[in-house]
Amino acid sequence: MTDPTQHDFAPRRGASDAWISETIEAIIAEATLAEKVGMLSGRGFFADFVADDKLWGARPYRAGSGIERLGVPPLWFSDGPRGVARGQSTCFPCTMARGATFDTDLEMRIGEAMGKEMRAQDCDLSGAVCINLLRHPAWGRAQETYGEDPHHLGAMGTALGLGIQTQNVMATVKHFALNSMENARFRVDVRIDERALHEIYLPHFKAALDAGIATVMSAYNKLDGEYCGQHHGLLTDILRTEWGFSGFVHSDWVMGLYKPYAVSAGLDIENPEPQILGDKLVAAVEAGHVAPWVIDRACRNILHTQYRFACAEDPCEAYPAELVAGPAHVALAREAAEKSIVLLENDGVLPLDRAKIGRIAVLGKLAVQANTGDRGSSRVRPPHVVTTLAALSERLGPDAILTGDEDDIAAAVAAARGADVALVVAGYTAREEGEYIPGELTLGQESDGTRRAAIGGDRLSLDLPAAQVALIDAVAATGTPVIVAIVAGSAVLVEGWRGRAAAILQTFYAGMEGGTALANILFGDANPSGRLPFTVARDPAHYPFFDRDADTIRYDYWHGYGKFARDGVEPRYRFGHGLSYTRFGQRALHVRATATALEITTTISNLGDRAGDASLLCYVGGPGGIERWPRMLKAFTRVSLQPGEARTVTLTIALDDLRYRDTAAHGWRFEPGDYRITVCGFGDMLETSVRL
Ligand code: BGC
Repeated sequence: MTDPTQHDFAPRRGASDAWISETIEAIIAEATLAEKVGMLSGRGFFADFVADDKLWGARPYRAGSGIERLGVPPLWFSDGPRGVARGQSTCFPCTMARGATFDTDLEMRIGEAMGKEMRAQDCDLSGAVCINLLRHPAWGRAQETYGEDPHHLGAMGTALGLGIQTQNVMATVKHFALNSMENARFRVDVRIDERALHEIYLPHFKAALDAGIATVMSAYNKLDGEYCGQHHGLLTDILRTEWGFSGFVHSDWVMGLYKPYAVSAGLDIENPEPQILGDKLVAAVEAGHVAPWVIDRACRNILHTQYRFACAEDPCEAYPAELVAGPAHVALAREAAEKSIVLLENDGVLPLDRAKIGRIAVLGKLAVQANTGDRGSSRVRPPHVVTTLAALSERLGPDAILTGDEDDIAAAVAAARGADVALVVAGYTAREEGEYIPGELTLGQESDGTRRAAIGGDRLSLDLPAAQVALIDAVAATGTPVIVAIVAGSAVLVEGWRGRAAAILQTFYAGMEGGTALANILFGDANPSGRLPFTVARDPAHYPFFDRDADTIRYDYWHGYGKFARDGVEPRYRFGHGLSYTRFGQRALHVRATATALEITTTISNLGDRAGDASLLCYVGGPGGIERWPRMLKAFTRVSLQPGEARTVTLTIALDDLRYRDTAAHGWRFEPGDYRITVCGFGDMLETSVRL
């Protein structure tokens, strides 16, 4: 008999591809059925979580258990679209804020920083890349994704994931698929037709996986009657057969699958514990219900991915603890916050001139709160959070600051009367939107020992809370100019009060350096450059149907700017809207078609007297034989321009990205004809057409 202790199949940095392949085959040959099945689930989470007093992220979690006897390590998971959900990591602005930067280079640098912080905290599997589509702004977890457009989601998520992977941390795209509502996520059955599925809800996943993101997390919800965690059509027919994905798929946590046959359907790992797989899967194999090769396939999917990362040479010599929330990463969080803030309206009050501002009224409860987002799985606990009030006090000195909030409007009005300008910070917290946290689960919230109310979930309203609107109204009535900063994960309707605001900014959940970033924008040290990654309606009825308690819901082809365009409805703020303190001009739009791509060039210039960044968004409209979104984003880029500087930029669109899903052939087809190309800079919009 083989001596079970003689094997050491542990991954080695620098090992060759041949060694990896041989080792994996040796592991599969050597492992027992129970050991192989053991690899296919996390282990120990429940006990650890309780032992840590339910402090989420107190340690890395096993998301796949390895085989100890053979030296195969577990996969160590940590979450976090807005940073590493572990220890005291850097808290970046939430994903939606970063969506507003339209800056893939920045997003990749954020990914690298997250990758380093993962490694410094003993994790190698990151759940940070959330790219579910923002179908409706009420979605509680909107803040965790980048926006409403599939191309933009794919580009931004890819940048984050590839950035994470530079540090040999495996990135996961989640939640596959159609996870665009929160409260009903464990049960809702999403119905969808083939074109909407492939053209609207899946392209961003395919883009990220084609680019090399290593792993996939399945979604909780159902697709056409079957849970996504055990959906053969999704996990095998589409993911493996059509797309050629070769990494592994792990389930979302606790209720991600219901039957051991999930492994036959294409799932590789159940998280965080073997509730459905484990012994039940061993029994299913022994009873002949699940084929043994299915288990080997899952093991190979895991091991090939795991060993590719674990054997690669690291770019850094070491990952010391000081990397975590170190100065470079904190500065990156500030840069991201500055680049994400969207200036929605400005009557000229901004930027503020320090010489003319004696005193500023900083109003609203959210001005003094460390409000970095929800309290769910993406919660990050940074070592510090700079609030708006703290940043402005630091900048202007405490004597220049007057305060007040919606609980005492008379006092807030008095403050506004004594100030040259008023800033109202309004919006939401983890209470009104976010991952849904039932009352009995604290997830490390500060506990007073009593039972808590549930928090988070899908929003009940798209408006600001009434008390905040009353505050804006009362302060505006003093005649002091009012600047409103909106803190929210997605669209907030502004119809009721926008006429009374001198300027409006969307600041999202801006991360640990958000206060400093806002102060820098208000006083013009940073020039606003964020652009909305979603459409803000004038009327909630203009969005698609949404029912947060739905058991069944149909996702069709129409949402976001595509739906507004089809319906001929003017939004309040279009997708891509955002103002700057400088002016940009755009000219000379040219399109050249090669055999495989469109090359689009245009020249953008900074016509003002301040440096600024402009994003160029390139949309394509089809010939019209096939009904599609009147125009759809297919490329974007971001440029920094000094005053007077002009730059000619080239955007490339693969012709394959212009195809539609042919539902008769279940494949992709190109429609010949005239295509309209529109490029939107800040303000300008140039259009041309090309025959293809
Ligand atoms: C969330 C996932 C997350 C997982 C593990 C789930 O509740 O839906 O996004 O990755 O928990 O933290």
